Amino acid sequence: MHNSMKMKPKLIILMVIVVAAISFSFIQTWQYYYSEIPRIWTNEALKDWELPNANPTFTVEPVSEEFYFALPERVIYKTYPVYHPDYEPEGYWEWLHEQDAQIVFDASQLKTEADWIKAGELLFDYPIDTLGAVISTKHVRNREFYTASRMPITPEGIMPFVQWVVAGKGKVYLGNLSCAMCHTRVMPDGSTIKGAQGNWSGDKAFAYALEADDAPERAVKGITSFLFSSPWAVGDPHGKLLASGREEIIGAYKAVPEGAFGRQGTSILYPPQAPNLIGVKDRKYLDHGGLSQHRNIEDMMRYIAMNQALDFLNFYGDYNPIGLTKERLYNGKPVIFPGTYDRHSEAQLLAIAKYVYSLTSESQQTIST
Ligand code: HEC
Repeated sequence: MHNSMKMKPKLIILMVIVVAAISFSFIQTWQYYYSEIPRIWTNEALKDWELPNANPTFTVEPVSEEFYFALPERVIYKTYPVYHPDYEPEGYWEWLHEQDAQIVFDASQLKTEADWIKAGELLFDYPIDTLGAVISTKHVRNREFYTASRMPITPEGIMPFVQWVVAGKGKVYLGNLSCAMCHTRVMPDGSTIKGAQGNWSGDKAFAYALEADDAPERAVKGITSFLFSSPWAVGDPHGKLLASGREEIIGAYKAVPEGAFGRQGTSILYPPQAPNLIGVKDRKYLDHGGLSQHRNIEDMMRYIAMNQALDFLNFYGDYNPIGLTKERLYNGKPVIFPGTYDRHSEAQLLAIAKYVYSLTSESQQTIST
């Protein structure tokens, strides 16, 4: 009794210290989450982030803040390389099917700037689509695909533009639409440079997929319209292309040269160069049209969220690229289209943006030496 009475002040001091430490770390975490990770998709911020259309009737209207934050956050699984069939290690395919899913992104583990950049690189390589948005499993497991699409591969036979996503035992999906898909360059010596002008021959690959899958004319026209229709352009040349036949349209994909890519919202007739991201931190407007303002890292995070690929849900006046009405968009049911039914968390966007900012000519020189 006497002893425990004597212990009390010490215990109290200890408790005070423990409580103080817990609340300090709580405040730190709280501050980190609520002051350092910006909430980028707000109705206010999106009002004028993209420049207005020359014809104001068609000025962009992105999905609302409420819609955006109701989307589930992306779970990031461990991925594995995709090999050309002649290079795939023996037993690899069966081995992949025996692997369990591993979740590899956990924002609470990121402490230093270097941790964030490393996580950003991992997310840069993470495909957001496993629905076969561009190509699918049967294509990449067929030799013909590589010759028909003139696909660059590394000396190990790896195609660095896509990855196998393992979402559970036996759940092995081909992943499309990582940043790395369009923003990785395989060099003549077989090395790869992330962020350099990409040389993924994606449009030729897509043409191969349309032909190999016997896609009917209606489907070929539909997807080409989703990607490229621009009703605000007087005499829109895509209208003429769409009015032509299946062969002409597929021919437009095949004709895209190395280093260019018809991303959604651009043009398959005038495909943009896949831009070099090394040094992008200093550019004030993004894309060849200069459409998106780039004033700070929040704008870069917005750009990433929008272009991967929430822009399919944008309204331009009454026009929506995939044919939605506003009633359908806001009726509470998910829109199951690549990139439209989930989103990166704010921490994931911040990590990718930090990684992209770390791509400078100095950092590239350090890597090559
Ligand atoms: C399907 C191919 C594709 C994917 C996937 C893709 N991009 Fe791009 N990206 C492009 C193309 C093509 C452009 C040029 C568009 C234009 O000029 O209109 C571009 C433009 C950009 C720009 C603007 C660069 C500048 O100088 O204006 C940035 C930044 C960028 N991408 C980052 C990313 C990041 C980060 C990811 C992943 C989150 C990503 N991209 C995913 C194809 C892609």
